[in-house]
Amino acid sequence: MTDLLTSPDGTPASRLAFGTMQFGGRADRDASQAMFDAALAAGITHFDTAHVYTNGASEILLGEMAAPHRDRLIIATKSAFEGGSTRETILNSAETSRQRMNTDVIDALYLHRYDAETDMRITFEALAELKNKGIIRYVGISNFAAWQAAKAAHIAATFELKITLIQPMYNVVKRQAEVEILPMAQDYGMLCAPYSPLGGGLLTGKYAGGGAGRLTEDESYAARYRFAHMHDAAIELGEIAAREGLHPATLAVAWAAAHSTGPTPIISARSASQLEPSLAAMDYSITPELYAELASLVPAPPPATDRAEEQ
Ligand SMILES: NC(=O)c1ccc[n+]([C@@H]2O[C@H](COP(=O)([O-])OP(=O)(O)OC[C@H]3O[C@@H](n4cnc5c(N)ncnc54)[C@H](OP(=O)(O)O)[C@@H]3O)[C@@H](O)[C@H]2O)c1
Repeated sequence: MTDLLTSPDGTPASRLAFGTMQFGGRADRDASQAMFDAALAAGITHFDTAHVYTNGASEILLGEMAAPHRDRLIIATKSAFEGGSTRETILNSAETSRQRMNTDVIDALYLHRYDAETDMRITFEALAELKNKGIIRYVGISNFAAWQAAKAAHIAATFELKITLIQPMYNVVKRQAEVEILPMAQDYGMLCAPYSPLGGGLLTGKYAGGGAGRLTEDESYAARYRFAHMHDAAIELGEIAAREGLHPATLAVAWAAAHSTGPTPIISARSASQLEPSLAAMDYSITPELYAELASLVPAPPPATDRAEEQ
């Protein structure tokens, strides 16, 4: 599916994307630069940020770092996490993002989440306006349910607009996207770029040893990954990784990338040393046996219809 997305000079999207949510937050300028350089050196061409990340610092730092390589990179940002998906929010946030990143063109602009209050025709008319003016090249949606995405795709089409990207959460212990989002993305020709392939760090196994990080620092992540079965799966994943001579992060990222629909996981870290094992997944392909072994660590989510006996 990476062929759906190219940079301004036609460079294809990489097998993995790199997310800069930590830039200017848990990663200072030097740590951010070191990660950007490592991502670039590993062949990453697809970068992800958002209007709301680190009060704009993520977009500013990414814009500065990407500038010397601009035309061969794909830079995606997001709008309307706050303020609703209104015309005003979308146009204002796209303009702010453009200024922060010091770029004329935003390669991809996502709606950061579904907004039930705003008529989607207003939302997609605004996005079509940005596309027709050449301000954005691709449109994406994030954190949408499949029915919301399908509705969005049909409304977007009335403005001759295609939804090229969809960004759900997806990892070994958060598999809801398998039920409808991933097959829908394949059917609709959307590139699926799932976030949190390491479960925010859980799947590195560090919490089993009493380690600290996002899950001990951020209440919403602690709540999202609070269930014992997720922590048990992280321990088992660590044991399998040790058996295979791999870092658990390499295995977790490779697993998320290996879904039959060909998603592009967005990797991320707070330092270059943390990032290294996730980047190693660029050159590692999981075997079908190992893929199935990891999939068996948590129960597969139930199918979308209740005729489960026919699946
Ligand atoms: N659309 C959305 O709503 C949404 C939401 C979230 C993320 N995203 C995007 O997706 C990207 C990736 O998401 P994510 O950051 O949640 O991905 P993730 O890979 O699940 O988690 C990354 C975090 O795991 C920890 N980690 C990574 N490597 C490690 C290592 N080797 N050892 C120990 N800890 C390690 C670090 O956190 P600590 O050091 O703090 O523990 C790091 O920040 C983001 O940058 C952003 O671009 C989008």
